[in-house]
Amino acid sequence: MTWYQVFPTISTSFIALSAILVAIGWRLILLGKRESHQKVMIAGAIAALLFFLFYVSRTIFVGNTEWGGPDNLKTLYTIFLVFHIVLAMVAAVFGITTLTLAFKKRFAKHRKWGRVTASTWFVTAATGITVYVLLYLMYPGGHTKPVIDAIFGL
Ligand code: HEM
Repeated sequence: MTWYQVFPTISTSFIALSAILVAIGWRLILLGKRESHQKVMIAGAIAALLFFLFYVSRTIFVGNTEWGGPDNLKTLYTIFLVFHIVLAMVAAVFGITTLTLAFKKRFAKHRKWGRVTASTWFVTAATGITVYVLLYLMYPGGHTKPVIDAIFGL
């Protein structure tokens, strides 16, 4: 593994970990274990935050990686990447809302938001892992570029 793959590998592992913790946390509340639910969900939120910190520092210090696969898949990949990024931003807002509702003890609303947040996060994690596989495992060799250039394939 080269140095430029280390940051994405760490950040993708944090997305996966976070999604697993959210799934465990959901199961715990269905079993009525409120305190464990709270602890595991906070751990899930911290894992998501660590993902974000790694992602941002990689973007600043290394840049983002451009598509290294076949040209005919580039447009499809770009659409998929933008979908993933938008979903991640939506999930972050939903996550903050869900946590805020929990800490204000507005549990009826928290329950509704929690279901949407957790489901959105699962799709975000799955699409994020897919982007990682496409960019670093299936079609390695794309160059590292500043963020805006890499997203729009400039
Ligand atoms: C981002 C973090 C969190 C997520 C994604 C989340 C998700 C959920 C979900 C999906 C449910 C409903 C389960 C169902 O009925 O299907 C739920 C319920 C609940 N959550 Fe969370 N949760 C989070 C954080 C917290 C925290 C920090 C607390 C405590 C302060 C908490 C306390 C509760 C309680 C007490 C319920 C049960 C509500 C009821 O029975 O009406 N949650 N949560």
